[in-house]
Amino acid sequence: MFGRFKFINPEICPNTELDDAWLAFKILLQKNITVDSQEKVKQWFKNFFNLTDTCQIYLTDSGRTALYLILKSLNLPKNSQVLIQGFSCVVVPNAVLQAGYQPVVCDIEPQTFNFDLDKIEDKITPQTKAWIVQHTFGIMVDMHRVKQICNQHKIVLIEDCAHSLGSTFAGKPAGSWGETSMFSFGRDKIVSSIFGGAVIINKPNSEWQRRLNQEYQKLPPLEPEKELKSLVFTIISGFILPLYHFWVGKIVLSLIMKLKIVPDIYSYEEMLGTDKFFGQKYSDKLAFLLLNQLKKFEKFRIHRKKIAKIYSDELNLKYYPQASYLRFPVNLEWLKDQEDYTSLYNSILSRCKKEGIFLGIWYQNLFANKETDLSKFNCRLEDLPTAKRLLQKRVINLPTHIHVNNEDAVRIVKEINTALQAQST
Ligand SMILES: Cc1ncc(COP(=O)(O)O)c(C=O)c1O
Repeated sequence: MFGRFKFINPEICPNTELDDAWLAFKILLQKNITVDSQEKVKQWFKNFFNLTDTCQIYLTDSGRTALYLILKSLNLPKNSQVLIQGFSCVVVPNAVLQAGYQPVVCDIEPQTFNFDLDKIEDKITPQTKAWIVQHTFGIMVDMHRVKQICNQHKIVLIEDCAHSLGSTFAGKPAGSWGETSMFSFGRDKIVSSIFGGAVIINKPNSEWQRRLNQEYQKLPPLEPEKELKSLVFTIISGFILPLYHFWVGKIVLSLIMKLKIVPDIYSYEEMLGTDKFFGQKYSDKLAFLLLNQLKKFEKFRIHRKKIAKIYSDELNLKYYPQASYLRFPVNLEWLKDQEDYTSLYNSILSRCKKEGIFLGIWYQNLFANKETDLSKFNCRLEDLPTAKRLLQKRVINLPTHIHVNNEDAVRIVKEINTALQAQST
């Protein structure tokens, strides 16, 4: 029966398979990892992006730490402005504040949920020094236009590839357009070791790179507790969560949540918005776990695109063949023209939940949680009309990860269509 034998949730370890859980178990029993796993991860990135040996890669505990390292080492004048978009994660504006700059939050456009390039020039001032371009859900914005705007205004282009490892624009990969780029290996990303991140910087022998190296050296090692929780959580996700619908999994999940074994994606302080920095280095053990995911990267990539294509065909929505589709976003406005989408939104979510499938809810809030104090980022929703409209329960994200098969995708579409029909009658 649909969803009976698996746990489909794009938030909770969507990439973890049995071999990952088994590996995590073996790593847990080992004192030291003998292979140089962090070097191997770097080598994977060098091969993937065809990088020369002069190009540096730094591995961190998270994407946010990677972003901080990039921004801090840029060494811009204090209070320089950095363009970021709404529909992001709170840790992005946090990293800007932590580096001593001002985030300038820009509006999005409703098709790809990326920067609205028609509005961007209104936000550029002489203080604008950097632009963090995020390829939301793995869909890329027109990068030729972005590059042209950056060149014209002498703005440093930073690519946030937290959602988009494997996406391309005009045949060129996400992560190779900017002067620097960052990646996340968080638990709900393209490949995952529960925590992790990377910086790529292609500025050999530059002051920027020297400072980045210095900032990296200052980071403390990964907290042993964070590493332990990541391994335990991987084991539980691989072995127990598939039993979610037999109650065992459900009970174990609520137990590990209560016991705080599920590592929080961010702390309460980070959730509110903060200029305090918490970053750490990566670890050999998590890198070892990640290497197994990277081996499956191509399988994951092909799978996500295949599932996204089913959603696009069945719902008659645009498909971006170059996108990696971390999730398949649906703006409910594309399906139906009405004033208030709340009941449709709630109905789709609850229908799928009854079938054992949790849909993603990026973005119900500008920075993915309702606690964030937007005034810390000098941001008012009134200034972001498209984002403000879409935040009113109009965007759902359909899962594309490896545990979703063709039949699941078709059933999700069926639930959406039934909810739409119920609205019309
Ligand atoms: C767009 C974007 N950038 C950066 C990050 C930060 O990644 P991490 O959680 O690894 O710090 C996230 C996290 O969800 C994100 O969605």
